Amino acid sequence: MRLGVIGTQTAGERRVSMTPEVAQQYIQAGHVCIIEPGAGERADYSDEQYVQAGAQLGDPYQAELLLPMARQDVDLARLQSGHVVVGLLDPYETDALETLTQTGVTAFSLELIPRTTRAQSMDVLSSQANISGYAAVLRAASLYPRFFPMMMTAAGTVKAARVVVLGAGVAGLQAIATARRLGAVVEASDVRPAAREQIESLGAKFIDVPYETEEERVAAEGKGGYAGAMPASWLARQAEVVAQRCAQADVLISTALIPGRPAPSLIAAEVVQKMRAGSVVVDLAASRGGNCALTEPGQTVVRHGVTIVGELNFASQVAADASALYARNVRQFVGLLVAQDGPQLHIPEADDIVQASLVCRDAKRLFPASRGA
Ligand code: NAI
Repeated sequence: MRLGVIGTQTAGERRVSMTPEVAQQYIQAGHVCIIEPGAGERADYSDEQYVQAGAQLGDPYQAELLLPMARQDVDLARLQSGHVVVGLLDPYETDALETLTQTGVTAFSLELIPRTTRAQSMDVLSSQANISGYAAVLRAASLYPRFFPMMMTAAGTVKAARVVVLGAGVAGLQAIATARRLGAVVEASDVRPAAREQIESLGAKFIDVPYETEEERVAAEGKGGYAGAMPASWLARQAEVVAQRCAQADVLISTALIPGRPAPSLIAAEVVQKMRAGSVVVDLAASRGGNCALTEPGQTVVRHGVTIVGELNFASQVAADASALYARNVRQFVGLLVAQDGPQLHIPEADDIVQASLVCRDAKRLFPASRGA
């Protein structure tokens, strides 16, 4: 099978879908890798490294399996119905997905891979969110005009920074761990009951908003590891508690997301107003509108003396490692699309991971309509 690596021109994107290490593995398995010249440059992988690994530099659209990093990187005019596209296709943007569908390609959106044990090695959301959580805290630490750790010096003692993390999924838990390593005092909130133990095991304090009804408890449990949308009653109580905690915080890292919906609004403008000057908010939910009312997606702004970071692609800040992990995830996924008896393309229709991530085929859009998502 020929695999084509499409480079990115998208602002803020630095990752690449195949590293030289992974190219070598594909080639050893009998595949041909065609890399668009310069595709790995932004992630510090040179054309020379790909060639040394055995890949060819050339036109990736000559391949049958196309590996863009994201949907925006695909040149729709060059797609043919025989192409299979695998990448971060942002499937909830249904208009864009419809346009892709009309090209007749077969496309797999890696965001839709289920959170099952078998799919763990392909879980791009986890590998990239983990990096985002880390990079978000480092950004906050560099913008925060004080120390993170407590410092006892001859000139006196400096207090540790107080960090609040909203949403303790993959990104949030890594943010907690990174902030703790830097010496901050950390508190965190999440809707899912399982999050309490995970937050506490990292040495942070759980911000508790007890459930008062069965409806609240069921919504919090969510589905497939993801949170559901919480009832207004719980959100109102959470807003009150979060407002108190945030007003005391020096750094706020917000990561709360609900698949397929706008990010929950957790930090009102008045909350930011109450934070002390020099505080930092890093809103990892910016691409879905943000958890903070004052977030401007794609921008870093200062409001009421508080720096609010709405950067859209934190994983790209650690592009070499983000690409390395992503490329390994993709290799595992592509392994599902190879025939048993040779390195040819074969799509096993009945496979649950293949079914869940297949978003279009034969000019028919299969997501979200067929699953009612
Ligand atoms: P996500 O990126 O969709 O959401 C981030 C976090 O925001 C989640 O923890 C969610 O509960 C939380 N959240 C939503 N609304 C909120 C609100 N109003 N207030 C506070 N927090 C709110 O989730 P992510 O990080 O992709 O994964 C969520 C969970 O899925 C993980 O913690 C884990 O339990 C599970 N998971 C399972 C995997 C597996 O079994 N292979 C792999 C990865 C994750």
